[in-house]
Amino acid sequence: MTQKTVLITGATRGIGKGVAIAFADAGWIVYGTGRPSTGSGRPLSETAWAAEKKIILKEADVADQPRMAEIMQDIKDKHGRLDCLINNAGVASNTPASALGDEEIAKIIDTNFKAVFTCCQSYYKMQRKSGPSTGSGQVAAKGGGCIINISSVLGIVGTSLASVYSGTKGAVISMTKALAIEWANSGFRVNAICPGFIDTDMTDMLKKRESVMAKMLEFIPLKRLGTPEDIAAPAIMLASDGAAYITGQIIVVDGGLTAM
Ligand SMILES: NC(=O)c1ccc[n+]([C@@H]2O[C@H](COP(=O)([O-])OP(=O)(O)OC[C@H]3O[C@@H](n4cnc5c(N)ncnc54)[C@H](OP(=O)(O)O)[C@@H]3O)[C@@H](O)[C@H]2O)c1
Repeated sequence: MTQKTVLITGATRGIGKGVAIAFADAGWIVYGTGRPSTGSGRPLSETAWAAEKKIILKEADVADQPRMAEIMQDIKDKHGRLDCLINNAGVASNTPASALGDEEIAKIIDTNFKAVFTCCQSYYKMQRKSGPSTGSGQVAAKGGGCIINISSVLGIVGTSLASVYSGTKGAVISMTKALAIEWANSGFRVNAICPGFIDTDMTDMLKKRESVMAKMLEFIPLKRLGTPEDIAAPAIMLASDGAAYITGQIIVVDGGLTAM
């Protein structure tokens, strides 16, 4: 029972998949979630790359709080621990602010902010009484855990066509800091990672438009899009025992974009 266990939301593709593979390669027991209605049409449990890495994918919409709480409890019951929760699932939007309708606004807020909060809440309620946690030995006896929220540089700086998306990502940053303080005494560490522009389905629109892409690269000092592995490395660091004194922090991983 010494193997650490992590749950990553939105692990079917992109950053979540890269993070899941990196944790599996680092020796963690890895669970991920994705929506039942997307993908190849086959159950997520039959996803070949996940099976190869012994990553267990569960079907769940992150906005379904009872289902997410049930998945967390099942992991805890099976392995005796859930050391880390990574709230990664998210949706983007390229709709001009003036054209955003109620349905799209609700979907972005519910997925990118409300579900991140409710997953943090379910994890806290399950973990607050019993350990072990990834924190120092002292807090492990009291319970606790490690939460990593995937925000965005667009939660820090603005751009056009991302008004509500940016709002949710900024809210995740503020919430991360607030929860880090509120739950510190219970042995929880809560941090966030802000990716810049990462090569995933989410940035397809950008990659398809050569002129936009060229302009984008002009502004990125390291002159490339990031990869899911670029996000996985700091996530593993934040989940490690070596990060026992890091909480309430926002780690920007953007090739220097926001340093300008
Ligand atoms: N790519 C970037 O440049 C970038 C930059 C900054 C921040 N981020 C953030 O990083 C995170 C991952 O982005 P990505 O680029 O990897 O996006 P992606 O390739 O579009 O993947 C999104 C993931 O989230 C899952 N997801 C979306 N809505 C969900 C829901 N309601 N319930 C459960 N799962 C859901 C998707 O699952 P399905 O397969 O079921 O659709 C998929 O696994 C997001 O929070 C995003 O905002 C991305």
